[in-house]
Amino acid sequence: MERIKILDKSFVPFISKEEISSRIAEVGAMINKDYEGKQVLLIAILNGSFVFAADLFRTLTIDAAISFVKLASYKGTTSTGNVITAIGMEERLNDRHIIIVEDIIDTGKTLSAFMPEIYQRDPASVKIATFLSKPDALQYKDIKADYVAFEIENKFVVGYGLDYDGYGRNIPSLMVLE
Ligand code: XMP
Ligand code: MG
Repeated sequence: MERIKILDKSFVPFISKEEISSRIAEVGAMINKDYEGKQVLLIAILNGSFVFAADLFRTLTIDAAISFVKLASYKGTTSTGNVITAIGMEERLNDRHIIIVEDIIDTGKTLSAFMPEIYQRDPASVKIATFLSKPDALQYKDIKADYVAFEIENKFVVGYGLDYDGYGRNIPSLMVLE
């Protein structure tokens, strides 16, 4: 794929769909091995992770369920300022093996706010799988992904579920801001 324009910005090819698919097969194989004989519940965070979640989910051969949550952040009255509410968290989590699925961990702020919601529901275990992580951008050091498909530089990317202002999610490969 050549350079593309989304709204006012240009993006160039970064990670091909072939590289993505073979790497996701590797990540799925690790999960299958780590959870052999167990049942897992994937909790994918909308919107960005839906493409990655769908592909990762289909590499799993263990007993796997999936559920989706949408996070809404608003200014709260707590000292930290931001409160995250999870919409769609109806699933029972106690004594279950949970894998949180994200599209990208950038500063870590989103997951840092969301993870306490998970822990307070007494899961048997919790791990994080992310399509991308930007180690140089991480500010919330309590957030550590257990499965990372690709570590990337601190650059803005779109495609494979990730968007620029709502667009670009349908691009099957990953593109980077020119
Ligand atoms: P934090 O900082 O909370 O960021 O870890 C996670 C969320 O920020 C968005 N994000 C991006 N979206 N290209 C995108 O399309 C990027 O390069 C990018 N970096 C961060 C994304 O919504 C993610 O869930
Ligand atoms: Mg996201």
